[in-house]
Amino acid sequence: MAKRYRVCTTEELQPGERKIVDADGRSIGVFNVGGSYHALLNLCPHQRGPLCLGQVTGTMLPSPVGEFRYGLEGRIIRCPWHGWEFDLTTGKSVFKPERVKLKVYPVTVEPACSGSQAENEPRVETFPVTVERQWIVLHV
Ligand code: FES
Repeated sequence: MAKRYRVCTTEELQPGERKIVDADGRSIGVFNVGGSYHALLNLCPHQRGPLCLGQVTGTMLPSPVGEFRYGLEGRIIRCPWHGWEFDLTTGKSVFKPERVKLKVYPVTVEPACSGSQAENEPRVETFPVTVERQWIVLHV
């Protein structure tokens, strides 16, 4: 079973921002890409550069000869060492998406007061609760 790590609250990781955490001895970057959260190992498959420190940008898209189309703004991370590019939402490389991929981790958003109650635990009187803060949780 995967270990769970609280990364930060949703207020602390706004769209376009990242947080690099140490989880289970691994450096992992957690990114907010337009309101969805994605986590990837902070290790470039090329020469083990600190990928998650790279620029978040867009990239050139496939297009007919003589035409240049730019897209995926905010979804691509470019390794700071030699410029390999990866899609933050899939971990796949831009240049060989099916062969060169990053290690990615699931991320969930959970209520700040989340807890579990086993089926056989005694019931107590409950009251309505609203969630005002949420935790971003990394599963390693
Ligand atoms: S180490 Fe990342 S592109 Fe070379």
